[in-house]
Amino acid sequence: MSPFWSAWISIITLGVIFGCTALLLKTRKGEVFKDATEETTGHTFDGIEELDNPLPSWWFQLFMGTVVFALVYLVLYPGLGNFKGVLNWTSTNQWEEEIQHANNVYAPVFAKYAALPSEELLKEENRAGLLMGQRMFANNCSVCHGTAATGAYGFPNLADKDWLYGGSADTIKHTITNGRTGSMPAWGSVLGEAGVRDMASYVLSLSGTADLDAEAIARAKPQFQALCIACHGSDGTGTQALGAPNLTDKIWLYGGSYEKIAHTIRTGRAGSMPAHKDLLSENKINLIAGYVYSLSNKDK
Ligand code: HEC
Ligand code: HEC
Repeated sequence: MSPFWSAWISIITLGVIFGCTALLLKTRKGEVFKDATEETTGHTFDGIEELDNPLPSWWFQLFMGTVVFALVYLVLYPGLGNFKGVLNWTSTNQWEEEIQHANNVYAPVFAKYAALPSEELLKEENRAGLLMGQRMFANNCSVCHGTAATGAYGFPNLADKDWLYGGSADTIKHTITNGRTGSMPAWGSVLGEAGVRDMASYVLSLSGTADLDAEAIARAKPQFQALCIACHGSDGTGTQALGAPNLTDKIWLYGGSYEKIAHTIRTGRAGSMPAHKDLLSENKINLIAGYVYSLSNKDK
C-alpha cells in the first residue's frame, strides 16, 4: 500500500475511534456532575417529557469496552497502514504454520507406508492406505481420469486391465512421477485422404469389425506393415514401452467409430499425462499408485 493510502486509512480508523470516545465522554457529563437530572431536553409529547439523563453505566462501559478492544486489536494485528502489529501475524504465516502442523501430524502416517510396496496395500486389513490413496486420487487425478478412474475421451481408463504403458505398480508409479506423452504421428500427408480411409478400415478390421471394404483392407495392409508396426506391432497389439495402444481390443482412447479412427490417423494424437514429482511427495505417489493398482487387481 502506498504511504498516502496507509496514512489515509490510519487517520480515518483512529479518527473514528477517538471521535466516538469523545462523544461518549461528552454525553457522560450529567453522570459526572450529578447522579440524575430533572432537566429535560425540552421535548414533550402528550404530556410525556424526555429527560436529559446520561447513558446507563453498563451501556457506557460496553461502549468503552469496544474502544479498548479496537485499540488492542490495532496494536496486535496489521490494520494501521504498514504497521504489521506486534504479533507479526500474516495470513501467509498462518498458512505456513498450518502446513507445518499437517506435516508433523501426517509424516508418521506416511512414513509407515513409505517402505511398503504399493501392491501390499491390498493386503492391509483395514484398507487405510488404499483409502488415503483414493482421497488423494480424487484431489489430484479425478479432473482428468474421472472420480471412479474410468477415464474419458482422450483420458485413459485406469480401472481396467488395458494399459498404454503397463499396469504394474512400479510402472504406474513411474507414470505418475514423470508423466507421459503419447506420440502418434499424423499420416494425412503421407497416405493422402484415400489412403487414410483405407487405413481406417484396416484398423477396424484388426478388432474384428465385420462388413468392411475388403479391397480397402487389402490396399492398406502393406502400408500398415511399412508405417505402423514399429510402434503398434505387426499384429497391431501395441507396444507399452512407447505407449502405442493395442488396436485389436475394441478399447479406444480416442473413439472407435470409423470417422474418429480416420481422424486419429489423419492428424495424429499427443495425449499428455503431467508429471507429478514436483506436486506430490514420493510417499503420496506411492499411496496413489497403490490405489490405482488395486482398481484392476480387485481379485488379489
Ligand atoms: C491434466 C490431465 C491429467 C491429470 C491431472 C492426470 N492425468 Fe493421468 N493421464 C492423462 C492423459 C491424457 C494420459 C494418457 C497419456 C497418453 O495418451 O499417452 C494419462 C495417463 C495416465 C496413466 C497411464 C495409463 C496407461 O494406460 O498406461 C496413469 C497410470 C495415470 N495417467 C495416472 C494418473 C494419476 C494417478 C493421476 C493423479 C496423480 C493422474 N494420472 C493425473 C491425463 C491426466
Ligand atoms: C511413432 C510411433 C507410432 C507410429 C509409427 C504409429 N502410431 Fe498410432 N499411436 C501411437 C501412439 C503413441 C498412440 C497413442 C497416442 C496418445 O496416447 O495420445 C497411437 C494411437 C493410435 C490410434 C488411436 C487408438 C485409440 O485407442 O484411440 C490409432 C487408431 C493409431 N494409432 C493408428 C495408427 C496407424 C494406422 C499407424 C500407421 C499409419 C500408426 N498408428 C502409426 C504411436 C504410433
